[in-house]
Amino acid sequence: MDNVVLYEKKEDIAIITFNRPDSLNALNTDVNIKLIELLDKAEKDDEVGVVILTGSGEKAFVAGADIKEMLNMDPIGAREHAIRAKGAADKIYDLKKPVIAAINGFCLGGGMEYAMACDFRVASDNARFGLPEINLGIMPGSAGTQRLPRLIGMGKAKELIFSGAMIDATQALNLGLINYIFERSALLGEAIKLAKKIASKSSVALSLIKSAMNKGTEIDLESASMFEIDCFALCFATKEQKMGMAAFAGKKKD
Ligand code: COA
Repeated sequence: MDNVVLYEKKEDIAIITFNRPDSLNALNTDVNIKLIELLDKAEKDDEVGVVILTGSGEKAFVAGADIKEMLNMDPIGAREHAIRAKGAADKIYDLKKPVIAAINGFCLGGGMEYAMACDFRVASDNARFGLPEINLGIMPGSAGTQRLPRLIGMGKAKELIFSGAMIDATQALNLGLINYIFERSALLGEAIKLAKKIASKSSVALSLIKSAMNKGTEIDLESASMFEIDCFALCFATKEQKMGMAAFAGKKKD
């Protein structure tokens, strides 16, 4: 179980890698338990500013939940399984640090749901995306029906989920599902470059911005704006605010 998800720290960046390449990194119970443990480790490590999620091997980020594990589940088992996966998706979404998905191939089903829980996504030119659960007679169970319409709009999301079709990286870029396409060999390096730029900023402000943006989309504009004000005010308790503003004001005087 120890190696099904890997953890590597490159200075202030934690790289968490799904590592079942023979099964296209399909998500089983061990993966979900380990993923939560490693996200927690990154969250508690003050040296880590940004987390990157990616997959081992040449073919896949994650090709979905492990179908072989789900084959004989009854509804009670399926519910428990989905609740555990929800825990992993929520841990990504609520992590106090930015999480970037570096998608290096098939990004399907639960893999797509975890990628959508990330703050944003970048992908290699061979990446393929989809929620193909309908082809197995089931449906997404880790908030796919909720996060996809929020990211690309209801009509496109329904078309993708109803049809179970896959789209390529260019289509994903055009839909706003991913921010950039990189060559496969350059993907992780480019994701690290983006992560490092973000990790150089105030960790408290980043965490508050993430919280304001995530919570804000779920509530009315007035409540969201007031929540943003409380987050904004908290930034004034940080050394980064004091140093950043003093440095700017000092420069202005020169
Ligand atoms: N669960 C369990 N095993 C999986 C898997 C999954 N979601 N996706 C792939 N694998 C396994 C395959 O069974 C195969 O194992 P084997 O070598 O022991 O037979 C191995 O990974 C390689 O997959 P394969 O299907 O041979 O690769 P491919 O390049 O021909 O096809 C996919 C790639 C992604 C199109 C195909 O594997 C697929 O459709 N996977 C399922 C996707 C899905 O429905 N996900 C949602 C699940 S809810």
